[in-house]
Amino acid sequence: LPDHRRRLWEIADVKKTLTNRDAYSHKGSHGKGLVIGGSRQMPGSVAMTARAALRSGAGLIAISTDPGAISSISPFIQEATFVEGGGQVPDVSGYDGVAVGMGMGRESLRGEWIERLVCESKTPLLIDADGLYLLKNSLDALKQREIPTVLTPHPGEFAHLTGLSIGEILQSPFSHSKDFAERYGVYLVLKGPSTIITGPDGEQRVDVSGNSGLAKGGSGDVLSGILLSMMMQTDCLMDALSNGCVLHGFTADLLVQDGHSKVDLLASDVIEGLSRTFRTLS
Ligand code: APR
Ligand code: MG
Repeated sequence: LPDHRRRLWEIADVKKTLTNRDAYSHKGSHGKGLVIGGSRQMPGSVAMTARAALRSGAGLIAISTDPGAISSISPFIQEATFVEGGGQVPDVSGYDGVAVGMGMGRESLRGEWIERLVCESKTPLLIDADGLYLLKNSLDALKQREIPTVLTPHPGEFAHLTGLSIGEILQSPFSHSKDFAERYGVYLVLKGPSTIITGPDGEQRVDVSGNSGLAKGGSGDVLSGILLSMMMQTDCLMDALSNGCVLHGFTADLLVQDGHSKVDLLASDVIEGLSRTFRTLS
């Protein structure tokens, strides 16, 4: 790629492009988001995504989950509301952004939800974790979709989606990301020690923030929440996603500089650590 089509994205870039919170804003100005996922086995996932979205400035967050998981999720996120789906695909109209898949499980019924969301929803969609696993059967539907779709795989999930091996992906992560994003018309966030953000036009940004303290279950769920929030508050989706990745990694870096170690850092510490990052930026 020519240089201007692939560039490093750092905290200074975030500072330049992050939208200010207007003194006269109201909750509607900052996006109403829906998080679909979680299950009795993985209630923490959506709690972290929702909490991370709110800590990143989202105006309102609703959670659609297994009714049996609500009582274990709600104590961890008092600010979120819950929507009853009655086993049907959640109604996403009226939201500014949707994140789906975290801790959702891989039942085939949920696969139908993913397909319906891709084919029918008119809301920007972020698909992560189990949602990516289930998306495999509806990949071609992405090509017809006119509203932005963001996929956030780690190399294992990207291998599943592409049919390539993890080794092949790690060998040429830029070109595989570009091929996939252009082919399916999606925004792809390929996560890892370095994260590559690719737009449907092939533009690429690289985020090298973060540390091995993030190599722990839950970090990806937190990233999804930050990205959902950024997606709803930033006009340029490439900026939204690049900023979200850097905010996540930069926060983990701040926390291991003082307070935490890479050994003990938890994903939920990163959520609470966002305060420091946003104070640094303002
Ligand atoms: N250095 C910097 N950043 C890192 C490092 C590292 N060494 N290791 C991980 N990260 C960051 C990644 O860039 C990404 O943002 O932490 C996050 C990890 O995200 P995931 O791989 O999705 O991890 P996880 O939170 O465990 O996912 C939760 O989703 O992918 C499924 O199977 C997974 O069920 C699990 C769930
Ligand atoms: Mg994950």
